Amino acid sequence: MQLWNDVESTYRDRTPTSADFHAETKRHVPSGVGSTYREWDPHPLYIDEASGVHFTDVDGNDYLDFGLNNGAGMSGHAHPAITEAASRQLDEGTLYTKPSKLLHEAAAELKKRWSGMDLVRFTNSGTESTMHAIRVARAHSGKDKVLKIEGSYHGCHDYVLLSKAAGREKLGHADRPTRVVESEGIPTKVAETVEIGPWNDLEAIESVLREHINEIGTIIVEPIVMNVGVTQPYGEFLQGLRELCDEYGLVYIFDEVKTGVKVAPGGAAEYYDVEPDLVTMAKSIGGNLPVGAFGGSEAVMREIENGAAHYGTYNANPLALRAVITQLRDVLDDDAYRHVNDLGGRLVAGYEDIMADHGITGHVEHVNSQGIVSFTDETIRDYRDWIEHVDVEFHENYWFAMLNRGVMPHPHSASQQWTISVQHTEEHVEEHLEAFETIAPRLADEQGE
Ligand SMILES: Cc1ncc(COP(=O)(O)O)c(C=O)c1O
Repeated sequence: MQLWNDVESTYRDRTPTSADFHAETKRHVPSGVGSTYREWDPHPLYIDEASGVHFTDVDGNDYLDFGLNNGAGMSGHAHPAITEAASRQLDEGTLYTKPSKLLHEAAAELKKRWSGMDLVRFTNSGTESTMHAIRVARAHSGKDKVLKIEGSYHGCHDYVLLSKAAGREKLGHADRPTRVVESEGIPTKVAETVEIGPWNDLEAIESVLREHINEIGTIIVEPIVMNVGVTQPYGEFLQGLRELCDEYGLVYIFDEVKTGVKVAPGGAAEYYDVEPDLVTMAKSIGGNLPVGAFGGSEAVMREIENGAAHYGTYNANPLALRAVITQLRDVLDDDAYRHVNDLGGRLVAGYEDIMADHGITGHVEHVNSQGIVSFTDETIRDYRDWIEHVDVEFHENYWFAMLNRGVMPHPHSASQQWTISVQHTEEHVEEHLEAFETIAPRLADEQGE
């Protein structure tokens, strides 16, 4: 992707130590990063420390952070309540590999937020949560195949790393998207257990179900496609899928790793008032500690007692559970939601005003604390709209230009959205908008060319 000359040279001039770290780390670690997503050209930022809503890179640059760990950081960095709880737990031991008194307490906090969630198991990440939820769903339905939505991301295990960011030439027919494997090393036979359906098109989904009537037993969705910006369900789409699942006897999974506890206390299930059979969670449930969970109806979750395996040395470790309890009980209270939703609205309005003032083509897609600016007037209804209308290179330049002014507007990539945290204030939103105002003339000029 081509960065504008001045944008790239400013970035390089500000971050020579990150460049050195990248060169050195690559000698020891593939791509020099801990997760392949984290590598970007010309080099990623290497981080020294993070606190509140700021992080500092190894060159000493300070950034106002709206990326917040790909949405894991709704508490902001090093939230005092989480730090205090985790510090106490460090003294009491971080791993017991036996159940503790914290287990039912943490599960109860999640159950309060999702109606229909009878039982919960903890994991260590979103990837583990979807992997185990799919296993349990298969055990329950007795059918191997899973229907997944084109453009959605559900983690990086073999059953879901398909049709996530496929190029236009590979997509196939809009009603019947081609299955695109997104990693070397995924066995073809495993990939063939997944069928792909389009977002926001119930008729097309039903036709895939009919075609595989004796094979598909599970539908997994991101109830807002948060790996395609903030792409919401239209009309009664989520409820329509609920009805199809009931009609065809399928297990309905909401992957709420990104939406859960963020778009509403009870995630997208609460926001849209639709009840899935299983919910998968991670990220912001744990105040930046590595933890995930999956839970749902008694009938489905009891499969774990009937032979659907769920194991893990670090599952439900006391450090993570302490963080979950503190995050859900003390940090994300009613005031917190009022606060982040209010700031979210201000940020959206500010972006739209600035774009209008400078004649920039664009709009903001958002739900409460989550949002992203799209430099197009077209509404994004699904992955194909996104790939058609979002100028990824232009967006990349906006993103780096913001970094050069000390603001990370969202995680890297035009497909990712900002998170407003409980530690952001009106002043932080103003600061974000001031940086955008500064680069707006340049963006307007580039669009005009
Ligand atoms: C919707 C969704 N599901 C699952 C995952 C995987 O979570 P993790 O990175 O914790 O494995 C992600 C990560 O971004 C996600 O956005």
